[in-house]
Amino acid sequence: MIVVSVASGTSVDALDVGVVDLSVRDDAGTVEVEVLASTTEPWPHDLRDRLLALLPPATTTAAEVCALDTAVGQAVGAVAAEAAARAGGADLVVSPGQTVHHEIDGDRCLGTLQIGQPAWVAEATGLPVVSDLRTRDVAAGGHGAPLAGILDSLWLAGGAGQRVALNLGGIANVSVVQPDGTSLAWDTGPANCLLDVAASRASGGAHGHDVDGAMAARGRVLPELLDRLLAHPHFALTPPVSTGRETFSAAYLDNLVGPDPAWDDVAATLVELTARTVADALAPYDVTEVVASGGGTRNPSLMAALARHLPAPVRTSDDLGLPVDGKEAVLWALLGFLTWYGVPVTTDPASGRPPRVLGRISPGADPLVLPPPLTPPTRLRVRAAAHDLPTTEVRSA
Ligand SMILES: Nc1ncnc2c1ncn2[C@@H]1O[C@H](COP(=O)(O)OP(=O)(O)O)[C@@H](O)[C@H]1O
Ligand SMILES: [Mg+2]
Repeated sequence: MIVVSVASGTSVDALDVGVVDLSVRDDAGTVEVEVLASTTEPWPHDLRDRLLALLPPATTTAAEVCALDTAVGQAVGAVAAEAAARAGGADLVVSPGQTVHHEIDGDRCLGTLQIGQPAWVAEATGLPVVSDLRTRDVAAGGHGAPLAGILDSLWLAGGAGQRVALNLGGIANVSVVQPDGTSLAWDTGPANCLLDVAASRASGGAHGHDVDGAMAARGRVLPELLDRLLAHPHFALTPPVSTGRETFSAAYLDNLVGPDPAWDDVAATLVELTARTVADALAPYDVTEVVASGGGTRNPSLMAALARHLPAPVRTSDDLGLPVDGKEAVLWALLGFLTWYGVPVTTDPASGRPPRVLGRISPGADPLVLPPPLTPPTRLRVRAAAHDLPTTEVRSA
C-alpha cells in the first residue's frame, strides 16, 4: 500500500511529506516499510504565523479557527495531491492536522484539537484520508501523544537491552523499548519550542530557530534560570505524560527571563534544560542506545549537550534507515495504515486499557471499502529504497 502522509509538528515549522510503501507479511507479523520520498514543504503565505497566533495567552474567534481549519486542509490537500502524482499514484492519505490545543491537567489529558479539515484533502486527492489520530486514545483515557511509541516498539524491538527513541521536535519525546517490544513513551518537555522563541526574539523575528546552535554555542548556562526552568511541575510527573506549546509557551519564557536578557545565554540554558530533562527522564532505565530524530538533531549544541548528559551512545535514526526529518512521516503513514487495516493500538501498553483503532476515515472519490482487519504486527522492518537512500528535499519558505 502506498501511503502519502502530510503532517506538521508542534514547531509549526513546515509540512513534512512522506510517500511510504507499507506491506505486511502476515505469517511473520512484520510490517515492511520503504520510504519512497521524504520532503519538507513550507507553509503557504502567513499560515505559520496565524497558527502560532492561536496560542495562549492570545484569544481567537470561531471565524479564525474556521478559516485556519480550511486553510490547513487546503494546504495539506495541495501538497498531498502533488506527492501522490509524483509517486505515480497512492492508495491512502494520512493527515493528522496541526495541533492547536492540547489540554493537560497534571498527568491527565482532557482534550486535544488538531485542525485541517480532511474533506479538502479528500477533494484534492480523490483518495481516502485518515485524520484525527489522537482523540480516540484521549477518549479511552490516554494522552493521544506522543504516538511515536507505536512505531518505536515495532522498530526497536529485539535489541540487546533497553533502546530509546528520542524525537527532538518542538517538544522532546522518548520511547523506552524493551527487547520484547513493550514500550513506554512520553513527552519529557521542551526540545526546540522555547529555543525557537529565544532565537526569534534575539533576531527581531529574522530567525525562526537558533541556526546550527550558534547562539547556544556562544552563550553560557545561567544556573538560576536553569533552576527556575527545572522547577516546572511537568518534570515531576510520572510517565506516560504529554505536554505542548500552550504549556511551554513564549509567554512562559518571556516571564522567566524578563526584559532584554542575554539571549545567547538563554539559548545555552535552554539547550542544557532539554539535555538535562531527557537524561533525568531516562535515569531509571538501563539504556543501551539512544536513537535520535527530528529537527533538533540539526543543532550541534543540543546534540553535544545530550552526548554529555546521556548514559548511552546517541546515534541518529538515519543509521537505522529512517531519515531524521522523515521519521515522523513514516510514523503517520504507519498509523494510517494500521487504522485502514483495523489494527487497535495504545499509547500506554502498561495501563491494561484495551487498545483502540485510532482515527477517522473520510472516503475519497469512491465509496469506502475497508479490507478485513489484520492481525496486529509485532515487528517493523525498514527496507532500503531501490534508489539507495531516500531523497530529502528541504525547500525554505
Ligand atoms: N539547522 C538547524 N539548527 C538548529 N535547529 C534546527 C535546525 N534545523 C531544524 N532545527 C530545529 O528543528 C525544529 C523543527 O523540528 P521538527 O522535527 O520538524 O519539529 P516538529 O515535529 O515540532 O515540527 C525547528 O523549529 C528548529 O528548532
Ligand atoms: Mg516540523
